[in-house]
Amino acid sequence: MITKITREELQQKLEHPKRSVVLDVLSPEDYRLAHIPGALNLPRDQVRTLASDLVARKDLEVIVYSAGPACHASENVADQLTAMGYTDVRHYAGGKSDWLQSGLPVASEEARNNANAEEIETMPANKPMTKILLDGGDPDETQRIRDRLGFLDGQTTNPTLVATNPDVQGRIVSGHRLSIGEQKEEYKRIVQKISPLIGSGGVSLEVFADFNTTAEQMVSQGEEMYSWIPNACIKYPCIPEGLRAAKISVERDMRVNMTLCFSQAQAAAVYAATKSSKQPVYVSPFVGRLDDRGDDGMQVVRNIKEMYRQGDGHVHVLVASVRKMDHLLYAFALSAELATVPAKILEEWAAGKLAVPGKDFVYRPLGKNGKPLRPVPYQQLDLNASWETFDLKHELTDKEIRKFVDDYRSTLAPAA
Ligand code: E4P
Repeated sequence: MITKITREELQQKLEHPKRSVVLDVLSPEDYRLAHIPGALNLPRDQVRTLASDLVARKDLEVIVYSAGPACHASENVADQLTAMGYTDVRHYAGGKSDWLQSGLPVASEEARNNANAEEIETMPANKPMTKILLDGGDPDETQRIRDRLGFLDGQTTNPTLVATNPDVQGRIVSGHRLSIGEQKEEYKRIVQKISPLIGSGGVSLEVFADFNTTAEQMVSQGEEMYSWIPNACIKYPCIPEGLRAAKISVERDMRVNMTLCFSQAQAAAVYAATKSSKQPVYVSPFVGRLDDRGDDGMQVVRNIKEMYRQGDGHVHVLVASVRKMDHLLYAFALSAELATVPAKILEEWAAGKLAVPGKDFVYRPLGKNGKPLRPVPYQQLDLNASWETFDLKHELTDKEIRKFVDDYRSTLAPAA
């Protein structure tokens, strides 16, 4: 039996948006026209595919509504959500008609959900369950890859990719080094062009962080970047201050992507630090860089996915530092939620008609020299422990932070 709530109760709940998620189950067109402010769109025929994107935690209070008492779509969605394991589903039976008749305000389309709706309409039939993100920093490349695939779920950027953007490079080659303000403007300009081209995976933007950057400094950069585009996701590194920044950010309802993840313990800490997030949190294991030093990067992904099976599903695994087609195909076979992939590999995948292998795909963990990669054993870790108890140290995290700092500085004018 689904608990019913009245309009007055719903109004009170909307005053504390962190505690519940309101879902409009009407079609994207109806939602675009008018919806209760703050509601997200979950059409009844998209529940299985979209619910976990919109409501990451199954213990959150979820309130569904449709057109009005005569429309049974919301009851149907409430039943589907309950069957999927959502434990606190409520039904506002009066729906949109009751809301409108009482003279309460409605909102029309938000850019963030517009991206979702457009994406649903244009998905090719063989689109994989794993969201495909482009790993790059050039909007022209984003447009080209989207045209080539017929869709593009998202994009990740980082200081190296921004430094190699053709316009930024053009300025550097002509002798102009950027000021910190100009560099920020360049980053903003790049992501504002990318933002409307991609779907619900969003655009990941990386804050500047070295070993002296505090969580508060990261969050302040993150909040500014978050305001640049409607579908931003802020990248913080898997170091203690980065984890603290993530904790603060998800409490402020920001989407975060925890980058430079090289171990299962770091992924466990991400899970524990972001438990209160209402939106999916991404964790990005860097498989190519692990492979480069002889460790089996894809096994780290497999271990993290296995560990998260005990969890509530709020952290999604984003396979990063993809170097070869087999990384991508194995990401599909492991049901990784997302993968970020360089343009060259996506073009190769498109040339192969976007083939998606079955779960029986056999991945051969071999390094560039053809030698077998070192296995990375699974660790028993308790996801309910506090995030500070996990061992966050990994030499690759430290090394790559130094590299990102160098790439970030490479485009800057020397300090006076
Ligand atoms: C994405 O978020 C990462 O920054 C990217 O995949 C790193 O890739 P690389 O190891 O090839 O630089």
